[in-house]
Amino acid sequence: MVKNWQRAGFGLYIHWPFCQSKCPYCDFNSHVSSNIDQEAWTEAYLSEISNNYHFSSEKVLNTVFFGGGTPSLMPSKTIETIITHILSLWKTSNQLEITLEANPTSIDVSRFKEYRSAGVNRVSVGVQSLDDTSLKCLGRLHTGKEAIIAVQTAQSVFDRVSFDLIYARQNQTIKAWEQELLSALSLGTNHMSLYQLTIEDGTVFGDRAKIGKLPGLPSEDLSADMYTLTQEIMSSNRLPLYEVSNHAFPGEESRHNLIYWRGGDFIGIGPGAHGRYYQGPKRKATVMTKNPNKWLSQIKRLGHGAEPSTVLSKSDEALEYLMMSARLVEGTDLKFLDTLDLNLLNYNNIKGLKKLGLIFVKNERMVVTPEGRPVLNSVLSELIS
Ligand SMILES: C[S@@+](CC[C@H](N)C(=O)[O-])C[C@H]1O[C@@H](n2cnc3c(N)ncnc32)[C@H](O)[C@@H]1O
Ligand code: SF4
Repeated sequence: MVKNWQRAGFGLYIHWPFCQSKCPYCDFNSHVSSNIDQEAWTEAYLSEISNNYHFSSEKVLNTVFFGGGTPSLMPSKTIETIITHILSLWKTSNQLEITLEANPTSIDVSRFKEYRSAGVNRVSVGVQSLDDTSLKCLGRLHTGKEAIIAVQTAQSVFDRVSFDLIYARQNQTIKAWEQELLSALSLGTNHMSLYQLTIEDGTVFGDRAKIGKLPGLPSEDLSADMYTLTQEIMSSNRLPLYEVSNHAFPGEESRHNLIYWRGGDFIGIGPGAHGRYYQGPKRKATVMTKNPNKWLSQIKRLGHGAEPSTVLSKSDEALEYLMMSARLVEGTDLKFLDTLDLNLLNYNNIKGLKKLGLIFVKNERMVVTPEGRPVLNSVLSELIS
């Protein structure tokens, strides 16, 4: 029988929780600290990697992802030590993908070459915008020009470079977004993540929005128009959508993120990192202690940084798989979904959603259409109601 990691891949996520400054829109587990004991952090990652290897040694590793926070602030020696340790443990696929997230303020050629020598073969740069006024509003420490230089620097070292942009920002017109996106495309990348600005509770933007101090956000209609225009521009520039916010030249998709969306197995290491994987017949949901200092001291004290794990029921697993795979243009594998839970989907509502043109079913896959994608949450609740 095909194991889940053989069906949908096996990846390792490593979370580096530090940034140079905290962006006002960001609710990632990221912190500013002037006092990072690099040796202690390296030791902690190595010991957690070993702990997690013990119950996953039979799996072949497809991807490693250094996310954050800002992993491009990590010394190259730390990255090298961690990758060397990983490679000394697991068997790896011939196409092992090792991605590192980078902030434009911490990209320099020599360190990037060291990352490459260490085994990193893909970089994802947080550009966010090419417009200086918008970058200031987003609390970024770089200009548009510096972001362009950062992408070009990354491209001079790595073949696979992705970057992130945030749109539907304060006071952004659709025309301005079109021009910004076209300039971004002229950088000639093979992957882009294009996120609509989300106002998250507990962030500076969230607090400002609550008291009416975040003016100029687009209406729902304008956001929807921006989304539609984005799809048109990206498709005609050979970077079609493959997931709600992700575009790639075919074959250049993020293999690591595909593991999440296809319901594969992944281990999460570092403060607040989540994992999902089969251990024998049980699918485990894991999360590590969120606070960076507590994570580090817990490892010293207890020998691991994890919170108690839970075992997912088949119906929970089915629901997670549906919610993740519905984001993909390739859609949901209905045969696989049926192996988890035969009763999850409401077949009457499927008929209705098909009639409305919000989903289609082909070759035993269910796909949310371009018309359904902007209302994905409503489509999902209909599917399971
Ligand atoms: C971990 S960061 C990427 C690397 C690096 N920390 C940086 O910001 O340059 C992940 C990405 O999530 C996106 N993001 C974070 N918060 C967001 C929000 N509230 N709305 C939309 N996108 C957001 C940004 O595009 C960001 O680049
Ligand atoms: S967006 Fe990136 S740089 Fe800004 S706080 Fe979040 S993780 Fe850090």
